[in-house]
Amino acid sequence: MDAGRLQVRIDRFALDDVDDACALWRDTGMWLRPSDGREQMALLLERDPDLQLAARDGAGRLVGTALGGWDGRRAYVYQLAVAPDRQRQGIASLLLEELEARFRARGALKAKLQVLRGNEASRAFFAARGYLVETDCEPWGKELVRGDAPPACRDPQAPAGLRDPLADDEGAPPSRC
Ligand SMILES: CC(C)(COP(=O)(O)OP(=O)(O)OC[C@H]1O[C@@H](n2cnc3c(N)ncnc32)[C@H](O)[C@@H]1OP(=O)(O)O)[C@@H](O)C(=O)NCCC(=O)NCCS
Repeated sequence: MDAGRLQVRIDRFALDDVDDACALWRDTGMWLRPSDGREQMALLLERDPDLQLAARDGAGRLVGTALGGWDGRRAYVYQLAVAPDRQRQGIASLLLEELEARFRARGALKAKLQVLRGNEASRAFFAARGYLVETDCEPWGKELVRGDAPPACRDPQAPAGLRDPLADDEGAPPSRC
């Protein structure tokens, strides 16, 4: 895909992008959690700076993000998002292609990600990009620091002991991965 035609450039995501990124993620309906804050983002940037991507328009505005995690065994895609006024123009595809190329260069064999139930745009996007829902396993997690519960624990149908005690089921925004 031609970044020039889309009038965006793919760039490294920097710590100074965090505030704009949080605004963008909020605008796209994503659910912000403590891992999206400056302190946690600094850890990610320190560990794998070249896997954290930003799409910027000609004026330098942040219009898309894709964050990557690589632990030596699996590659993970986080916070793939595009500003609402720039969606369906191929920007997320461009970001994901670049991230996948960087994963491959590290030796990764497979990329993984989580899509929150009901996020149909995201499901359609990842299906179009060749991703499959893996039905043979379910995401599990444990909250290591209070307030950053894994998505599985926000399921209102989950047994009481598994629910995030801090989650507000009423006001839970629709998308988070
Ligand atoms: C999911 C998201 C990142 C896609 O970004 P995008 O830049 O619009 O995606 P692209 O333009 O590269 O789309 C590529 C293809 O994916 C599919 N697709 C993307 N968005 C779609 C939608 N809303 N409905 C149906 N199919 C969609 C289409 O096949 C599309 O190709 P087409 O436009 O030629 O039909 C964007 O909708 C978004 O930011 N959503 C909110 C944040 C979010 O939920 N992120 C995912 C977290 S898991």
